[in-house]
Amino acid sequence: MEIRKYQEKDKKNLQYICIATAKPVKNEKEKEVLTALYNDYFTECESDNIFVAVNEDDDAIGYIICSSDYKKFRSTMRKRYLPKVRKLNKWKWFLTHLELILDSRLTKKYPSFLHINILDGYQRKGLGHKLMDALIGHLREKGVSAVMLGVGADNQKGINFYKKYGFHEIMKLPGVIKMGYNIQ
Ligand SMILES: CC(C)(COP(=O)(O)OP(=O)(O)OC[C@H]1O[C@@H](n2cnc3c(N)ncnc32)[C@H](O)[C@@H]1OP(=O)(O)O)[C@@H](O)C(=O)NCCC(=O)NCCS
Repeated sequence: MEIRKYQEKDKKNLQYICIATAKPVKNEKEKEVLTALYNDYFTECESDNIFVAVNEDDDAIGYIICSSDYKKFRSTMRKRYLPKVRKLNKWKWFLTHLELILDSRLTKKYPSFLHINILDGYQRKGLGHKLMDALIGHLREKGVSAVMLGVGADNQKGINFYKKYGFHEIMKLPGVIKMGYNIQ
C-alpha cells in the first residue's frame, strides 16, 4: 500500500469510501447527500489538497481531503452543493448551514479543514497517520498555519486517532467535537 496524490480516476472510489465508512445509509438519497457534503466539493474544486492510500492495483482504499481556503469552501458550498442537499434532506441542509456559520468563528485561527476515511479492512495499519503526514506536509509547504475538523462525539476511534496524532479539542457542539492542529 502506498500514498499518492489524487487523480481524476479516483473520484468514484472516493464516493464509495465516503458512503462505506459512514453510519449505515438507507437509500440513494442519503448517499447523494453524503457525497454532496463530504466529497464532491473537494474532488471538483480543491483536488490538489487530496491524498489517497492505494492497494496493489492502484485503487484508492482510503483518502484525506481538505479545503485550504475556508471562504471559498463556504461560498461554493452555499451556491453549488447546498441547494442539492436542500432538495434531498431539509434537516441536514439546515444543520450544515448552522455548522458553516459556527465554523466561521474558528477560521481565523484554523483556515483549513479536513476529512479522512479509510475502508474497514485497511484501518489500524498506520495508513491514517501516513495520509495525515502527507497532507500536513503539503499544507506546511503552502504556508497554511493550522487545520481543523469535526468528529462525531460518539466516534471514539476517530477521537483516539486525532488525539494520538496531536490534535486538540477547540470546541464542543451537540454531537460534534471540533479539533485543531497547528502546522507552522
Ligand atoms: C479514524 C481513521 C481515519 C484512523 O485511521 P487508521 O489508519 O485506522 O489509523 P492509524 O493506524 O494510522 O492509527 C491508529 C490509531 O488510531 C486510533 N484507532 C484506530 N482504530 C481504532 C479502533 N478500532 N479503536 C480505537 N482506536 C482506534 C488509535 O489511536 C490507534 O492507535 P493504537 O493502535 O496505538 O491504539 C480510520 O479508522 C477511519 O477511516 N475510520 C472510519 C471513518 C472515520 O471515522 N473518519 C473520521 C471521521 S471525522
